[in-house]
Amino acid sequence: MDWKEIQKAVEILRNGGLVAFPTETVYGLGADASNEAAVKAIFRVKGRPESHPLIVHLHDVDQVRRWATSVPKAALDLGRKFWPGPLTLILKKAAPVSKKVTGGQETVGLRVPNHPVALALLQKFGGGIAAPSANRFGKVSPTSAKHVRKDLGKDVDFILDGGSCDIGVESTIVDFSSGDPVILRPGGLTRERLEKALGRPVPIRGGGPVRVSGQLESHYAPSAKVVIVPPEESKATAARLGKKGKRVVLLTRKDVAARKLYASLRRADESGAQVIVVPLPEEAGLGLAVADRLRKAAGKR
Ligand code: TXA
Ligand code: MG
Repeated sequence: MDWKEIQKAVEILRNGGLVAFPTETVYGLGADASNEAAVKAIFRVKGRPESHPLIVHLHDVDQVRRWATSVPKAALDLGRKFWPGPLTLILKKAAPVSKKVTGGQETVGLRVPNHPVALALLQKFGGGIAAPSANRFGKVSPTSAKHVRKDLGKDVDFILDGGSCDIGVESTIVDFSSGDPVILRPGGLTRERLEKALGRPVPIRGGGPVRVSGQLESHYAPSAKVVIVPPEESKATAARLGKKGKRVVLLTRKDVAARKLYASLRRADESGAQVIVVPLPEEAGLGLAVADRLRKAAGKR
């Protein structure tokens, strides 16, 4: 760990600047969650509508009470069990939490990321860091500092480089704000582990009144068109599209393992692909999140 870099990042955050930082899922574009002007800058740089809420990152489960109110015991238990880790809890927001962060809603998303650089930054900073994934709105999330530099360039004041992200897909979002837990976005914490911990099935919500940007039809999308096929049909599909004169990149099952997914989509784009043919993974474990992101990448533009 380079403590000088952490210190520099903390100073930038205290002055209302933007710092990109690594987490175990994807890189985040961070700002002081209690500084409205800094939070506004996130939306500007991402090109994200202000109605789409941001996750507040904390260094410890004990900070939850400062950001949320009427926290159900089951939610707190999950935080204690899985944090630091790829879990985001949606809870009723505490009164002082700015609606700039929550997209105008009465709920707030909280998470303690499991990455030594992120935790060092959060600890030194002390407060909450609001951070969406460090990419432009609707595009593929970054899983390396290089991705962030390429996407955001000079629009971010500082980038902490923590290498490639271990998990590679975003956190699992679990909403406790209206009683029983519901998965709003499958992610790095598998549904299986979540259900085992809660001792009950947890439904996945599609659509609904809560604004979750990842629920737009097209999201997490590369420039090339994404075509998802059953694994046994992928070669034939790629060949057929190739014959039609399209520049096709065929990804393998290994290419779309969670940890490699976003880098593979970016590489295909950079190679000038017009169509990316992708075998749909089995929708269990991390495959559930991968399939979710692939469907959104293939969604209507
Ligand atoms: O793994 C992750 O979660 C990464 C890293 C950086 O922590 N962050 C991330 O942030 O994926 P973002 O902004 O790209 O996606 C966060 C999702 C969005 O779909 C947002 O709408 C939803 O979380 N969200 C945040 N607060 C919410 C709330 N109060 N109610 C419903 N959805 C919320
Ligand atoms: Mg995102």
